[in-house]
Amino acid sequence: MKALIASGGHGTRLRPLTHTRNKHLLPIANKPILYYAIEAAVEAGITEIGIVHNAGNDEVPSYIGDGSKWGVRITYIPQEKPGGLAQVVQISEKFIGKESFIFYLGDNMLVGGIKRFIEEFERSGCNCFLTLARVRDPQRFGVPVIENGKIIRVEEKPKNPKSNYAVAGIYLYDYHIFEAVNSITPSERGELEISDAHTYLIEHGYTVGYTEITGWWKDTGKPADLLEANRLVLDSFQFRNDGEIDSLSDVAGRVVIEKGAKIINSKVRGPAIIGKECIIENSYVGPYTSIGDRTQIIGSEIEYSIVLRDCKIINIGIRIEGSILGNDVEVVEGNSRPRVHRFMIGDQSRVEIV
Ligand code: G1P
Repeated sequence: MKALIASGGHGTRLRPLTHTRNKHLLPIANKPILYYAIEAAVEAGITEIGIVHNAGNDEVPSYIGDGSKWGVRITYIPQEKPGGLAQVVQISEKFIGKESFIFYLGDNMLVGGIKRFIEEFERSGCNCFLTLARVRDPQRFGVPVIENGKIIRVEEKPKNPKSNYAVAGIYLYDYHIFEAVNSITPSERGELEISDAHTYLIEHGYTVGYTEITGWWKDTGKPADLLEANRLVLDSFQFRNDGEIDSLSDVAGRVVIEKGAKIINSKVRGPAIIGKECIIENSYVGPYTSIGDRTQIIGSEIEYSIVLRDCKIINIGIRIEGSILGNDVEVVEGNSRPRVHRFMIGDQSRVEIV
């Protein structure tokens, strides 16, 4: 069993964060999203991983490396331009060969790992095995049409979904999937749709089984999804302090404080993570907050937020909530008169003021 992980695309719904970074490298609880997919494969005992990335951009390969830090071998497969998930599979045929594989969309987050799915797929003897998650907004996803307990078709982003399930971005295949992805034609939006490949398999007599994801699953395509994924991952943390907490501070709950971080005269309420060499001074850090390395929060309050590395949040009079700050962002008190808000904000940013 090999693993194929998709990390291409442009992450348009996560701009401006994705102007300078591949969305799969955005951190959830201070760890790049892509690490979660790799670690799920490693935990399931897979040692050969292929990662499809945007051609001409070596951000993902140089960030992730050759896999030796996880004891696995990672092969990079460049995709010339985004042409759909079935194309991602198509260009990976040489890497996969005749083996069965798990295809994992690198922006999907899942609690509980993938071992169970691999076992169920192998037991089922199916050619293709889909993982389904019950969702409130199926029109955002691939949606299975189920009759008498069998999937008879998969519709991509249908206006009138025939079930409340999304086909999650964790698929199991044997090599027949290559016949499907090499036979289908582009959809109206010009992409080779993975849902069409699934429908092809069904219509050509191959067996397509499925299982339901009963735990938590999320496609982290939008900012609110990132915050929710962050909440979920932080919820599984245990208290650990490798930094310094002074006697005036109050740190409660499941908080991880990394090496060199200093908590001075502040209140931290977990679940939260404070990165290496951060300074939290005269401040409040509330539940479900991830603070990246070397960030300084002074005289301010923040909760339910993701802050990346090297930010400065200084003397902000109102609590920051539900926010995502990129690298090197400064949100600081101005001291000019008259009192004004002064902005220096990149393209496609969003600021809410009260
Ligand atoms: C893709 C697939 C869709 C699937 C979803 C899962 O959609 O096309 O069938 O349900 O991933 O995350 P996208 O995230 O590209 O909109």
